[in-house]
Amino acid sequence: MESSKEFWNVDKNAGNLLQALIFTHHPKHILEIGTSNGYSAILMAKIAQQYGGHITTIEYFEKRIALAQENIAQAGLSDLITVLQGDALEVLSRFSPSYEGELEGVLESKATPTPASAGTPPYPGGRNMRFDFFFIDANKKQYAQYLEHCLRLANPGAIIVADNTISHRNKLADFFAALENNKNIQFLELEIGAGLVIAQAK
Ligand SMILES: C[S@@+](CC[C@H](N)C(=O)[O-])C[C@H]1O[C@@H](n2cnc3c(N)ncnc32)[C@H](O)[C@@H]1O
Repeated sequence: MESSKEFWNVDKNAGNLLQALIFTHHPKHILEIGTSNGYSAILMAKIAQQYGGHITTIEYFEKRIALAQENIAQAGLSDLITVLQGDALEVLSRFSPSYEGELEGVLESKATPTPASAGTPPYPGGRNMRFDFFFIDANKKQYAQYLEHCLRLANPGAIIVADNTISHRNKLADFFAALENNKNIQFLELEIGAGLVIAQAK
């Protein structure tokens, strides 16, 4: 599968870096915010499958979800990638860091999450969870809020990667302010692809 501009996929070099980080750190639980057609989730899963990692990825655009599921199935990675449908902030707000069970059993639900107003947790068995690696790549105006959720849900030492930090800099002032003002985060920005921030909670 090739990186496609039509689907806003991560640039090939940035994809290589994602794979390298996963190859060296072996994060068991990976959370992606912004699935599109599944390109980056598949890249990450190809490495994660070598050591039993799992990817959870969030997308709200139904047509892209269908395409992602198709691409993931074609790559033979359906067991490794769970696509959650819904608005990223809505879905993230349902994750609780206090749930300590295994992710796989809890994230069985691939159906559309029930609206919050219905009062029913969308993910049977609890709402997870903690993650070891995050890839932020959805609505640029919400990066600061995604970051807050990532920090809330991060296992110690978790890595947070964000794409488009140069191409969409004008929308990311609050994201960079949140990184700079948090003494517990170290981060760097790389001029790779559309710009990548790599952050780690100390
Ligand atoms: C840049 S693309 C993701 C590309 C993908 N990570 C890849 O490299 O293959 C961003 C995706 O985020 C989705 N998105 C944007 N805002 C969202 C939101 N608030 N909730 C869920 N998905 C969102 C878009 O529909 C789009 O498919």
